[in-house]
Amino acid sequence: MRVPEAALEAALDARRVVVVTGAGMSAESGVPTFRDAQTGLWERYAAEDLATPEAWDRDPAFVWAWYLSRFGAVAHVEPNAGHRAVARWAALADVRVVTQNVDDLHERAGSRDVVHLHGSLASFRCARCETAYAGTVDVPDTEVDRVDPPTCPRCGGRVRPGVVWFGELLPLDAWEQAVALVEAADLVLVVGTSGIVHPAAGLPAVARRAGAAVVEVNPLETDVSDVAHVVWRESAAMALPALVDSLAPALERRRGQA
Ligand code: APR
Repeated sequence: MRVPEAALEAALDARRVVVVTGAGMSAESGVPTFRDAQTGLWERYAAEDLATPEAWDRDPAFVWAWYLSRFGAVAHVEPNAGHRAVARWAALADVRVVTQNVDDLHERAGSRDVVHLHGSLASFRCARCETAYAGTVDVPDTEVDRVDPPTCPRCGGRVRPGVVWFGELLPLDAWEQAVALVEAADLVLVVGTSGIVHPAAGLPAVARRAGAAVVEVNPLETDVSDVAHVVWRESAAMALPALVDSLAPALERRRGQA
């Protein structure tokens, strides 16, 4: 796999790297993206019936069942070579991950301090008093349409998935951290996102304005391709290992000299 010269140069020069990821990062692990033709979740389901506060108020058991099935599905897949390459890179250099993904595949690949902009499938909280829910969450063995969400032991409210729904604000601390990281970065790698959903989709432009090199890794053109200095039309699990393999000798030498 040939690594674009400009991408390699930017990565070798960078002292601080931020990898901004979207659903395409987990696609090769078997986690469906949202908008890919035919396979994307929003091609198969109506986002307004599943990923909005209104949908939750209308039919919490339907929404809860769907997120349980996604939570269960992610538990049965593994990080791919792309996730592992990012973790390996972080062991050799200052590399941080900012993700829109609600799966834990970056962490399971060894990445630490991952900034989750859209929450996590593995965290739950009361929809009324916001208390984190630490009780058991049973994933049905078979796909079911409706499952009653658990009840909050503190206030009796319904427990909801810890993800950010359309129309909701991002967790402020995560957003502020993400902006600070990309503003301080020398290189921002944008992997597997269509760049449609804001404010996350605005991060590459924030990085570029702050002087960072922006490299996009995505088989298809996206809404952030114009912001990128380099576009690498490749998949995450193919491109990232090739990039880190190319970088490793120099980074190991650099670490040895430090
Ligand atoms: N490697 C790299 N990129 C890939 C791969 C792959 N193997 N497979 C698909 N892609 C790309 C697609 O070309 C597309 O540009 O990943 C992108 C996935 O885009 P979306 O499905 O729109 O996912 P994302 O950008 O993460 O969505 C943003 O929307 O639904 C909400 O909250 C949800 O976080 C999500 C947000």
